[in-house]
Amino acid sequence: VANEKESMYLVSEFANKFMHHNLLNEEEGKAIGLTYFKERGFTSETIKKFSLGYSPNSWDALTKEALGKGYKLEYLEKTGLTIVKEDKQFDRFKGRVMFPIQSMSGRVLGFGGRILTNDKKAAKYVNSPESDIYHKSKVLYGIYHAKQSIAKLDNCFLVEGYTDVIQFNQAGIENVVASSGTALTPDQIRLVNRLTKNITVLFDGDAAGLRASIRGIDLILEAGMNVKVCAFPNGEDPDSFAKKTPHDQLVLFLEENAKDFIQFKASLLMNDAKNDPIKKADLIRDMVISISKIPDRIKQEVYLQECSRIMDISEDVLFNTLAQLGKKEL
Ligand code: CTP
Ligand code: MN
Ligand code: MN
Ligand code: MN
Ligand code: MN
Repeated sequence: VANEKESMYLVSEFANKFMHHNLLNEEEGKAIGLTYFKERGFTSETIKKFSLGYSPNSWDALTKEALGKGYKLEYLEKTGLTIVKEDKQFDRFKGRVMFPIQSMSGRVLGFGGRILTNDKKAAKYVNSPESDIYHKSKVLYGIYHAKQSIAKLDNCFLVEGYTDVIQFNQAGIENVVASSGTALTPDQIRLVNRLTKNITVLFDGDAAGLRASIRGIDLILEAGMNVKVCAFPNGEDPDSFAKKTPHDQLVLFLEENAKDFIQFKASLLMNDAKNDPIKKADLIRDMVISISKIPDRIKQEVYLQECSRIMDISEDVLFNTLAQLGKKEL
């Protein structure tokens, strides 16, 4: 089994090199893939750093090349690079620009591939399937390039997508990782927890991003970590925002807009229904539920005080609600 996994790593490494070479040196790769990345504002240095690639628009170019080099079909299939159907072989990522997904130690585990058109019928991203080397719930995109910076700055920015990670790196902010479209998992949080206790969630400025941030908060608190949330203007994601914002202004924006989770939730109400008592009550209950996830009693108390102050409600009521929640869980 150890040998099997090693064979899967090796074929993934090969595919990454092939795709990266293709992007930088072949006519089709340059004309289509490189042009696409340049239009998104990625520099050659960035493209190299993240080893971005292009998968040729042919049914089996990658598969043929790999087989010719002696890689076995078995491992091409197990990593999902090749799809085998009725004895025919197809490249999974045909005609896509490629984002290799690396482990903490830099090994290629899998890929995300983006279409170049805005064809709403085709999936925007196709990702490697689950395999013995790629477990999407245990991986954070960008962790290899982020780990040092996360430890040094004692904070980790959590974004949704590949391009958010890349654009931030290009803007000089390296302590950033992406959950890559999956709902954040406890295993992903554990990866960060080894490096810092502080996470700042930077999800897309849309309804889906908002929902994902709210879900993420409780999981992060449960892990005993500190969580802040920084919302982006409507329709912006960290990539689009960083692309048009000068570095110093971006850093300032993040500092000024990162709120602790109580303030973040309170600000949702302000936007939503300031004068609706029922909504306000629901929100306060929701805040107390989040607070109940915190393993540290002292922190719980501090957040209860903050909630009491911001929402203008007595601390006793909050404390009793918290105690009741505890009983229900027993
Ligand atoms: N994603 C995915 N499959 C999809 C859509 C999204 O796997 N069909 C994942 C990708 O990892 C993507 C992330 O979810 O990076 C966030 O999705 P989204 O915000 O829609 O994409 P962006 O990262 O903003 O991509 P782009 O800017 O290229 O549109
Ligand atoms: Mn690299
Ligand atoms: Mn989105
Ligand atoms: Mn996005
Ligand atoms: Mn985007």
